[in-house]
Amino acid sequence: MVLSRRNNPIILILIFIISLFITLSLYNIVLSSSSSSKRDNKAGVETKPDQTLKQWTKLNNDDLQRFNQTLKRILVPRVVDTPSHANVKNFIVNYLNNLEWTVEQDEFETNTPMGRKKFTNIVGTLNPQACKRIVLACHYDSKYFPDFDFLGATDSAVPCTMILELLRKLDPKLKQHKNQNDDITLQVIMFDGEEAFQRWTNDDSLYGSRHLAARLNSLSSRSNLCPRNVETELDRIQVLILLDLIGEASPRFCSYYSKTQKMFDHLSRIERKLNRFKLLETNRLSGTNYFSRCPFSTSEIEDDHIPFQKLGVNILHIISTPFPLNWHLEGDDGRNLHHPTINNLMKIFQIFILEELKLI
Ligand SMILES: *[C@@H]1O[C@H](CO)[C@@H](O)[C@H](O)[C@H]1NC(C)=O
Ligand SMILES: [Zn+2]
Repeated sequence: MVLSRRNNPIILILIFIISLFITLSLYNIVLSSSSSSKRDNKAGVETKPDQTLKQWTKLNNDDLQRFNQTLKRILVPRVVDTPSHANVKNFIVNYLNNLEWTVEQDEFETNTPMGRKKFTNIVGTLNPQACKRIVLACHYDSKYFPDFDFLGATDSAVPCTMILELLRKLDPKLKQHKNQNDDITLQVIMFDGEEAFQRWTNDDSLYGSRHLAARLNSLSSRSNLCPRNVETELDRIQVLILLDLIGEASPRFCSYYSKTQKMFDHLSRIERKLNRFKLLETNRLSGTNYFSRCPFSTSEIEDDHIPFQKLGVNILHIISTPFPLNWHLEGDDGRNLHHPTINNLMKIFQIFILEELKLI
């Protein structure tokens, strides 16, 4: 076809851009399918998901409804030492009790810029006898703002809901693991008082995690099944996996510590596998990219892991960087959550925990 000179140049440019786009997309499809099949063949990896993988990445309507119900119970103002905070605390404690987990409440009082306050960390353990623990953690308090009711959906109602729903979804498998009396188990820590009452300082922040890390470090190990190098309750933590600022679209998580690089790579590998088998919800041709290689300069973020990290605990910090768009704003009230992303992360974490505990 020959284009006459009278054609509108804008249309010509548009046609050129569109055809360039189509060419590039086609090229991309060919490239990605050929490279993934090459990878499959070379590594001898299966080209179809097995039944186990399919089963544990399936979220049915019941699961999604339960997630919403649990989130609704937590997504309320829950400023430390208020009645609505106590409701959320009781909800979480009951939830863990109903799953037959052993629950401890680490209560303490301390001074804050807003006076003396009472805090409660919640610690749930699947099998208290097992020496070592893989800890899943979040903070359940919400930040106090004088001028509006802050709900903290990503901060951290969603991360806490994800943990609770993960335990429920995996419950049959976890009960099976508990009965095997392995030397490792799962523990959940829901921290209180992560947020500063005023401006974030060393004294005004991380109230719960500072208290609990110090306390566990001062208690000698209560398990008689531990090897000799495990002296304190803190030593029993194999890894602290802290979830924070999760729930908006397209998060990116970075690896901050070389000691947990392998675990981070495990998450990244699961994500790639689920993308390859089209088990994640995404519009992107290349799939999701949550667990990525981040710039070398990525610096550590102050959060509940810090008091533990300072005492030598292995840390996996799963926090969106950059922070969600509505971080510490009124908009972090649930309206801006992206449920496909939350579902995808649930699937990745479900497989991750099952594989780390060698349950599949
Ligand atoms: C859960 O809540 C979200 C946001 O309100 C909604 O879009 C979704 O349809 C709900 N899911 C179910 C299964 O009710
Ligand atoms: Zn916050």
